[in-house]
Amino acid sequence: MLAAIITLQTQENASQNLIIQRPPSGLSLQGRISIPGDKSISHRALMLGAIAEGETEIQGLLLGEDPRSTAHCFQALGAEISELNTQLVRVKGIGLGNFQEPMDVLNAGNSGTTIRLMLGLLASHPGRFFTVTGDDSLRSRPMSRVVKPLQQMSAEIWGRNSNTLAPLAVQGQALKPIHYHSPIASAQVKSCILLAGLNTEGKTTVTEPALSRDHSERMLKAFGAELSIDPETNSVTVTGNAKLYGQKVVVPGDISSAAFWLVAGSIVPGSELVVENVGVNPTRTGILEALAMMGADIQLENQREVAGEPVADVRVRSSQLKSCTIAGDIIPRLIDEIPILAVAATFAQGTTIIRDAAELRVKESDRITVMAQQLNKMGAKVTELPDGMEITGGTALVGAEVDSHTDHRIGMSLAIAALNASGTTTIHRAEAAAISYPNFTSTLKEVCR
Ligand code: S3P
Repeated sequence: MLAAIITLQTQENASQNLIIQRPPSGLSLQGRISIPGDKSISHRALMLGAIAEGETEIQGLLLGEDPRSTAHCFQALGAEISELNTQLVRVKGIGLGNFQEPMDVLNAGNSGTTIRLMLGLLASHPGRFFTVTGDDSLRSRPMSRVVKPLQQMSAEIWGRNSNTLAPLAVQGQALKPIHYHSPIASAQVKSCILLAGLNTEGKTTVTEPALSRDHSERMLKAFGAELSIDPETNSVTVTGNAKLYGQKVVVPGDISSAAFWLVAGSIVPGSELVVENVGVNPTRTGILEALAMMGADIQLENQREVAGEPVADVRVRSSQLKSCTIAGDIIPRLIDEIPILAVAATFAQGTTIIRDAAELRVKESDRITVMAQQLNKMGAKVTELPDGMEITGGTALVGAEVDSHTDHRIGMSLAIAALNASGTTTIHRAEAAAISYPNFTSTLKEVCR
């Protein structure tokens, strides 16, 4: 069997085209894959390290663009952060309440987690003034979801579009605690409010309609915050005037990055892959459940707990997938994996329905519209729904010119679709992968046999 020809071409404007030529005889994927560190946990390790007392050591940090944005922001706020690498990053914390007033605008780049979590911390630092911004995508994403609850805590925040779009200006205040009933299951909203509650006298509670990822809760506890969790009502309460202490954090591999290989291994006939060191926190494993519903052949091996997070190696063998319906409380547990699940559905027998996922419209791109348009260019049958997609599988995909729309997860999902599309696929603006998966293309080359 011939290997696929995979080329990365840099354009004059510095954007990159990823070209995937699938041999007519097809290909198969084989090997053991190590994936980059979890993005959500990497952000939180840097942030909590920065506001803790003493030193935090981080092993396995994701070296993507998003955590780099977090590191730059928190350096500007006074934390000392050593050069970023996967072996060991040291963060010398400044202690809660001790941010310095930055000399310039804090730039969160493409990262929703950076800007939203940071806003909770900034708003609760009395007497200091901050400005925050991001790239084109981030400046068009809704900030009202965190600005409103912070204003209920008496935060002072100004910005475009009635204080709901970045750039935002924040005059730090002594906040008052609230019980916030979030209308959406969002870890960014939950974490923003909990972080604001750390430096606020009294108890701050967030209740969400379904459980979102709980990395903040786990790590806040490990750093010494007083936290109580009510699983019956999906509520978390943090006690203010907290003191956090530097910790050793080991970042597991990102299940959102593993998801590309789990789908690739499932849909490309004759494949067998083992993805090593995957974080399998139950608030993130919706992708494993969805693929199991679709009949994927996936096994967890060597399950263990590393620094407060469950981890496993995940083996996938190719199988004929079948359609399923993905909706309801599972959605927040696989929200970032829906673009790659749409690719899986394209190769499944029957019609897959994804609903209750309107949040996809306000991610790094409108992931419903963009995924439907790009997959349809390759011959897929994807219909947009207001809050999801309807995907009729079983149509043979053909290589095409497609575009990531600068969204990392879209670009990588299209690359996986291309492995099973005849001919040549060109993915424009493929450099977006560096947000969460800098060596995606080199791993892709390694596993294509
Ligand atoms: C994240 C939460 C999710 C997710 C994002 C990372 C986090 O966003 O989509 O990629 O680290 O808290 P929402 O909280 O907006 O759902």
